[in-house]
Amino acid sequence: ERVQDLIGKKVIVTAGHTVEEIDPVRYITNHSTGKMGYAVAREAVKRGADVILISGPTNLANDTGAKLISIKTTGQMYQIIKKYYETSDIVIMAAAVADYHVKTPAKQKIKKNENELVLRLEKNIDILNELGKEKKQQKLVGFAAETQDLIKNAQQKLVKKNLDMIVANDVSRKDIGFGTDDNEVTFIRPNKKIISSPKTDKNDISKMIFDLI
Ligand code: PMT
Repeated sequence: ERVQDLIGKKVIVTAGHTVEEIDPVRYITNHSTGKMGYAVAREAVKRGADVILISGPTNLANDTGAKLISIKTTGQMYQIIKKYYETSDIVIMAAAVADYHVKTPAKQKIKKNENELVLRLEKNIDILNELGKEKKQQKLVGFAAETQDLIKNAQQKLVKKNLDMIVANDVSRKDIGFGTDDNEVTFIRPNKKIISSPKTDKNDISKMIFDLI
């Protein structure tokens, strides 16, 4: 009974965490489980869109109806997005993307010794920032995962990355954000009223995203 208002639209959704290798057995990552991104992809499919879900490793079954492309690193995510971006209509980046990778991952397992271990990290490309620079017909939606100054930090990302909307997410709370079924977010758009969601499940948050965009 939902309005199929995305028929003929191409939607890209990213979900989950990226992984950056330290050595063959260890890596750097974050707490994203993919629940938010999968909910967004599911909602886009329900509305009739042609959806590509680019996801880091998760424990989730892909019951979204979207075409799933699995990646590990930020670099891999960027390569895939670049392939589909030009012809896409909406891009929603719910993935928690690593900002840094290990400059020289060890070829063999690093052995411990008496000394400190120093990892040198190099900046990753900021995918949304690149997409924002090349934006044409696409509606670009980012998330902002913040532990302080939620609205101010999210607003800065909206402007810097040339987004049409940012979904500000307080990830300092245990009851929303990472790993939970529920979320509570603030939608920020250029020159429009800021809208706060109630605390509700990630499917409802996804409906609100598409209603607004
Ligand atoms: O997966 P769940 O467990 O359900 O958790 C959901 C969530 C908390 C991960 C999700 O709601 C969320 O907030 N996702 C954004 C996580 C994030 O990377 O936020 P950020 O503020 O660091 O980045 C801002 C935006 O830029 C994001 O849309 C991110 O995808 C994008 N980004 C970040 C870094 C980078 N190198 N390239 C990017 O494109």
